[in-house]
Amino acid sequence: MSVDCVDRTEAPHQLADGRLIAVREMGPDEEETVLQVFAGLGATSRERRFLTPKPRLSGRDLRQLAAVDGVDHVAMVAMFEDTPIGIARFVRDPADPQSADAAIAVVDGWQRQGVGTALVGALVQRGRDAGVHRFGVTILRDNDGVLRLLRRARIEVGLLGGDRDTAELALSLVAQPGAGQRSRP
Ligand SMILES: CC(C)(COP(=O)(O)OP(=O)(O)OC[C@H]1O[C@@H](n2cnc3c(N)ncnc32)[C@H](O)[C@@H]1OP(=O)(O)O)[C@@H](O)C(=O)NCCC(=O)NCCS
Repeated sequence: MSVDCVDRTEAPHQLADGRLIAVREMGPDEEETVLQVFAGLGATSRERRFLTPKPRLSGRDLRQLAAVDGVDHVAMVAMFEDTPIGIARFVRDPADPQSADAAIAVVDGWQRQGVGTALVGALVQRGRDAGVHRFGVTILRDNDGVLRLLRRARIEVGLLGGDRDTAELALSLVAQPGAGQRSRP
């Protein structure tokens, strides 16, 4: 093993079916990780993630999604063995460093098995460690899955606004008893 290898992997998470996944922080220049997760999203998941139909990522999209810096742009990756199966990220608001926009996607074949809950827990903890107090998340109004996910992750959610198609949610990261912890299946 290289002496330069930094282990950013958290303790493994056990899914309801017993399989173990790991959540790690994405490093710089992991365009391949971004591409692998995007490839595993169907059309509906892509639209829910990007709020518009997204058949492919442009070069600009890819560079932006891979441009983590560990301070203002942080991404957590769920891994099954050597395969990335989901990404959750936050991008800090330059005008309000205690706020950040957050987004998440789990590849279709791994949804509804607890991966999203593990990613949200890790992202919330990472955000708190970075001094973020609230995440803003924009969702399509028919996206019940993400609302159930946030309920499952025990995150306090407020409605900030939105339009006909979207809703802007405010997630409080201020610690409360039980908040952000994984609940038992
Ligand atoms: C939303 C998303 C991240 C959830 O990830 P996940 O790995 O399926 O989440 P979990 O397995 O941890 O499930 C958490 C809860 O959400 C529910 N859920 C997940 N997907 C759902 C769906 N499509 N419809 C209804 N409920 C859903 C689960 O049943 C579970 O609820 P429960 O505990 O009450 O049973 C995933 O569906 C996804 O990637 N969607 C596309 C992208 C997206 O919508 N991103 C959000 C906007 S940025």
